Amino acid sequence: TPRVFSGIQPSGGLTLGNYLGAIKRFVDMQGEEFETVYCMVDLHAITAKFLEPETLRKNTRELCAGFIASGIDPEKSILINQSQVPEHAQLGWIFNCVARMGWMQRMTQFKDKAGKNAQNQSLGLFAYPALMAADILIYHATHVPVGEDQKQHVELTRDIAAKFNHDYGVDFFPMAEPVIEGAATRVMSLRDGSKKMSKSDPSDASRINMTDDADAIAKKIRKAKTDPDALPSEAKGLEERPEARNLVNIYAALSEQSVDQVLTEVGGKQFGEFKPMLAELAVDKLAPISSEMARLMNEQDEIDRILTRGAERAREITAPILRQTYDIVGMVPPV
Ligand code: TYM
Repeated sequence: TPRVFSGIQPSGGLTLGNYLGAIKRFVDMQGEEFETVYCMVDLHAITAKFLEPETLRKNTRELCAGFIASGIDPEKSILINQSQVPEHAQLGWIFNCVARMGWMQRMTQFKDKAGKNAQNQSLGLFAYPALMAADILIYHATHVPVGEDQKQHVELTRDIAAKFNHDYGVDFFPMAEPVIEGAATRVMSLRDGSKKMSKSDPSDASRINMTDDADAIAKKIRKAKTDPDALPSEAKGLEERPEARNLVNIYAALSEQSVDQVLTEVGGKQFGEFKPMLAELAVDKLAPISSEMARLMNEQDEIDRILTRGAERAREITAPILRQTYDIVGMVPPV
């Protein structure tokens, strides 16, 4: 069975972007067709700004609760925290020595995050896509469900696999494919249709957090930036209307319809009418998840046990692949 791997950083709360672009897709891929591994990437979460240790621990457990509350079943999927499976970081080092400086310098996410201040960023932030490649390839995973913004990193993963295979004359690491599908592969800020919805945006009104209550969700949608026109009756009519398109995409993803199906229903309506529909749908879909998250957060021991068990299952896959990698590279094995 082909293997799926994906991860999310516990660097802050979950947003609707994470949910629609990633977690909801993770849930869809659970089943007979794939073996699924989903990960809280705590080692990635310390690459950017300093996090208080207690905050990181809380975020990681909350993210785990978010995965489970959204429908990730820790029996069907292997659910792990990155640092508990040490082979990720071990393969990450090997990949630091395979990836080229020039490749990393081309990563648009690094350029965006570092801005004009690249000299003051951590070395980890620069190297992070090589660790991400290790996350994927330590499972020989071939399918990587992600939002649009991670596409370049999955492509880099292929470059790293190809160079490793070529340098050592092996056919060891597979070529991983990004799986970027559905109506919400890039959820935009509610305040600015040209910016991605992000947990690091200083404006809380720009995003819907998975922990927002019904009132907060309704208020943020009511205040979301829009244009004055009515909704078009087909997707083409959204091309030059980023804010309108974003709200329709969110509606489509939450209701599991295509954008055209949604527009057949709401084409011709004004935002004054559409926004309350969207708010009601969002509250309907998100409220059960946030209340289940809150319940699970009171069961911290249970969460920690799930992660420990996940790591045990994961290491049955990752330990042999690391051993083979070390052997290919020429490390003397322990006797
Ligand atoms: P992260 O934590 O920034 O985001 C987690 C996932 O959510 C998606 N996403 C979005 N999708 C649609 N619209 C948005 N506004 C939006 N914001 C975030 C991201 O595309 C991602 O799929 N480097 C990764 C984590 C990672 C990883 C991996 C992913 C580490 N190792 C291996 C896949 C495979 C990251 O920082 O994602």
